[in-house]
Amino acid sequence: MHILVMVLLSVHALAGVFWVGSTLALTHSYFELTPKLFRAQMLAAALAVAAGLALWGIVIRGAQDPMAHTLALGALFALVAAGVQGSMRRTPVRSQRIAAVLLSATVVCMVIAPYVT
Ligand code: HEM
Repeated sequence: MHILVMVLLSVHALAGVFWVGSTLALTHSYFELTPKLFRAQMLAAALAVAAGLALWGIVIRGAQDPMAHTLALGALFALVAAGVQGSMRRTPVRSQRIAAVLLSATVVCMVIAPYVT
């Protein structure tokens, strides 16, 4: 089980880093790359969410503690970010900027979750 959690966490973090990192980069430069990176970003989003849900099922299960609530808030921000990127393709700069704020909030929630009491 430990190996599975380590694999899932690695996939989760790597896909998440690509998703957040590319989103942040696209808010500042290379705006014309946004449509070209759309598929890769959505694939990374799907991987991060799928691995996150699997981790939720294994690690968190039915827990109702501050850590679970903080992770859930971060996951909600990530899902809204995916919706924004998927639905606002006609205004790519705005969509990347909104998603960048949401995904930054996701990363903060994910990394502080174990320490929230
Ligand atoms: C629906 C979306 C998401 C769900 C359901 C989710 C779920 C989770 C869960 C359950 C954990 C705890 C794993 C454990 O304690 O072993 C976790 C950790 C983590 N997540 Fe997510 N996550 C989501 C999105 C993201 C995104 C977009 C990122 C972006 C980078 C991310 C980054 C991380 C990181 C870095 C950790 C490790 C935190 C630590 O242990 O210090 N997550 N996530």
